[in-house]
Amino acid sequence: MKLLLLFATLTLIFSTTVFAGEEFQAGTFHQNNCTGCHDSSVYTRKKRRVDSLPHLESQVRMCDANLGKKLFDTEIQSLTNYLNDNYYHFSK
Ligand code: HEC
Repeated sequence: MKLLLLFATLTLIFSTTVFAGEEFQAGTFHQNNCTGCHDSSVYTRKKRRVDSLPHLESQVRMCDANLGKKLFDTEIQSLTNYLNDNYYHFSK
């Protein structure tokens, strides 16, 4: 019986950890990590440097490298889409 309880607890812990890992929230991540060096006004300023979706993705990669977060590709893409949907509006 005790063993079963232990097993159930471990399963629960394991599944919540996996869930937390998969649930990448671009908006929250951005708010917590990406506003230290610049705020979101760099995305909308007149002379913004990013001028295409691939360029946006490589910029996100560069800033992630500066930040040292080592995001997964899927997370980079999720962040790129977040910025595109909210600020850049390039067609896909
Ligand atoms: C270590 C400091 C730093 C952090 C942290 C940082 N950035 Fe940046 N970012 C920069 C600098 C510097 C520029 C260039 C600003 C300029 O040209 O005036 C920039 C520019 C950008 C641009 C291009 C703006 C334009 O001109 O179109 C994007 C997009 C961007 N960052 C996204 C991000 C994202 C997403 C994150 C979080 C993962 C992030 N940044 C975190 C330093 C940082």
